[in-house]
Amino acid sequence: MLTLPSRRSVLAGLALTPALAVAPHGAWAEGEGAALSDASSALPSLSHAARSGGRYYGAAARADHLRQDKALRAAVLRDCEVLTPEIHLKWNSLEWRKGQFHFAPVDDLLTFADDNSLRVRGHTLLWDQSTPDWAKHEMLERRDWRLMSEHFSRVLGRYGSRIEEWDVINEPIDTQTGARNLRRNTFFRAFGPTYIERAMEEARTHAPKAHLVINDYGFEYGNPVDKARRQAFVALARRLRAANVPLDGVGVQAHLDLSKGPIDTVGLQEMTKALIDLGLDITVTELDVKESEAAAPTTARDQKVADETRRYLDVMLAFPEVRGVVTWGLTDKFSWLTEQIDARARAAHGVNRGLPYDDAYSPKPMYWALNESLGASA
Ligand code: XIL
Repeated sequence: MLTLPSRRSVLAGLALTPALAVAPHGAWAEGEGAALSDASSALPSLSHAARSGGRYYGAAARADHLRQDKALRAAVLRDCEVLTPEIHLKWNSLEWRKGQFHFAPVDDLLTFADDNSLRVRGHTLLWDQSTPDWAKHEMLERRDWRLMSEHFSRVLGRYGSRIEEWDVINEPIDTQTGARNLRRNTFFRAFGPTYIERAMEEARTHAPKAHLVINDYGFEYGNPVDKARRQAFVALARRLRAANVPLDGVGVQAHLDLSKGPIDTVGLQEMTKALIDLGLDITVTELDVKESEAAAPTTARDQKVADETRRYLDVMLAFPEVRGVVTWGLTDKFSWLTEQIDARARAAHGVNRGLPYDDAYSPKPMYWALNESLGASA
């Protein structure tokens, strides 16, 4: 994203809590899925629309939110075929303190998914921002790859066959302060630029059948940074494919942002086509829309969000190789974008309205935009 500093500084300030210290939970209510989806059958399901267009729809969610909010469960069960754990698979959730593992929230979410025949995306093995401090220090001090292989072996040993698709590396691109467009993250500093190849190989070793993905953001708009990022992403993918590195697909996050001007349709098409020509398939992994005019009337706000969604999906879903769309949440009630709004703006204008449902679970125009775009086959 172009607004990198603000986004990053907000994130940096967030207390990335140790994994929700969830006690082992009881079973998810038996038959709840069916009952809930019956109760809300008036709405067409986004998954149904996506399947008719030959792809899937899913959303990110947290196990604790699913536990506490029946309406969220109902919405997930109606609309989703795929779930992405929003935080629980991140290293700092799994192992906030060295050697103390918190698998319970992942296991809980997987049980919910299994009970309801949902697939799960594995997000994510390596992301600098979700790497616990102890691991960062150890990496930089010892430069011992065994720390990485143990992490991969632990996570993929446990979940590598149950979860078929993994964002192995999250956000490796940085065209502004990076080194040859690679982010100077902890992995880069400890192991050099080939940490990427090594991580992909490592993932393949521990999950031989999984679909392995690199996931990144900031590809949508016409500004010079997004333009450079598109080129850098394609160049990275090209380099990895040429070297036979195990890379099956790419994830484009798609955190759309109404303050960034029009989507660069041609730039986005060119990038997508170039990635497809490399034999990769593409998943839209984290779609949501950051608003820019929170003081406008709600109807106007919601229309803008929906129009932006439609414009984006019009480009992406013209390619059959774009196999699925995942939104970063389902309801404005639980959106990381709202974490980014300062308290005063939030008190005045409420939450960011960049997901399909509002915070009371009414479907918004974005819902219908998704429904129509996903339903139109490529
Ligand atoms: C975000 C979560 O939504 C937040 O709850 C958490 O505090 C930080 O991470 N890009 C990603 C996601 O790849 O993992 C991020 O998720 C949002 C940006």
